[in-house]
Amino acid sequence: MTDRGYSYTPPLGHAWLTPLYDTAIRVSTREGVWRSAFIKQIAPSPSDRILDVGCGTGTLAVALNRLEPEADIIGIDPDSQALGRAAAKVGTGSRSIRFVQGFLSQAILPASWKPTKIISSLVFHQTPLGTKREIIRMMRSLLAENGEIHIADYGKQQSVLMRLLFRLTVQMLDGVADTQSNADGILPELMHEAGLKVDETRRLVTPTGSISLYRATPYGLLAP
Ligand SMILES: C[S@@+](CC[C@H](N)C(=O)[O-])C[C@H]1O[C@@H](n2cnc3c(N)ncnc32)[C@H](O)[C@@H]1O
Repeated sequence: MTDRGYSYTPPLGHAWLTPLYDTAIRVSTREGVWRSAFIKQIAPSPSDRILDVGCGTGTLAVALNRLEPEADIIGIDPDSQALGRAAAKVGTGSRSIRFVQGFLSQAILPASWKPTKIISSLVFHQTPLGTKREIIRMMRSLLAENGEIHIADYGKQQSVLMRLLFRLTVQMLDGVADTQSNADGILPELMHEAGLKVDETRRLVTPTGSISLYRATPYGLLAP
């Protein structure tokens, strides 16, 4: 769909399903388990500048803000409906978290704001292969020195059961074209290609397929 000139897949595949997004993720992905593990992995500190790419309804960014209110957090997403829900979760209390509509680019960030941590959850399985590659390269180029990238998403589906569950749930909703390369294990390959050293730190079984947590850090220079 398109929203103010941005073309993308909305949180649950269709705009009319967005109000159900938080509930659907909670019941269908063992969200309490993988999101807690992901937050622990991100380990926000007061001096962090954290960029959440495809923040959607803001669950992750808001949880990090509650855990570490001093960390400076920006969530970006092309979907204005999802961002409205994210903003409502913050209320008026915190000035260290902001949401911005758009795709990842240098221009979307405040001048000289270099993220120490760039994070993203459940975004890549919904984007075309070229966009996955582009976002990962952009993450790498925007990251502060000694920064870290953390990604949680459906990764390689290692067993027949996981492949079947992924097929019957995520692929029914989001289609096969954008999701299959995730299930085949493309994300670590794209991170290597962008000059990132990557560890799959956890692989969590869910009723919709396995969700992998990745931690990546730059090595060498990003090839042009
Ligand atoms: C499944 S939702 C995940 C939302 C949130 N990160 C979470 O963990 O609940 C995927 C989000 O990615 C956003 N999105 C889709 N294409 C994108 C792109 N090219 N760049 C950034 N975000 C994108 C969608 O608008 C949607 O909000």
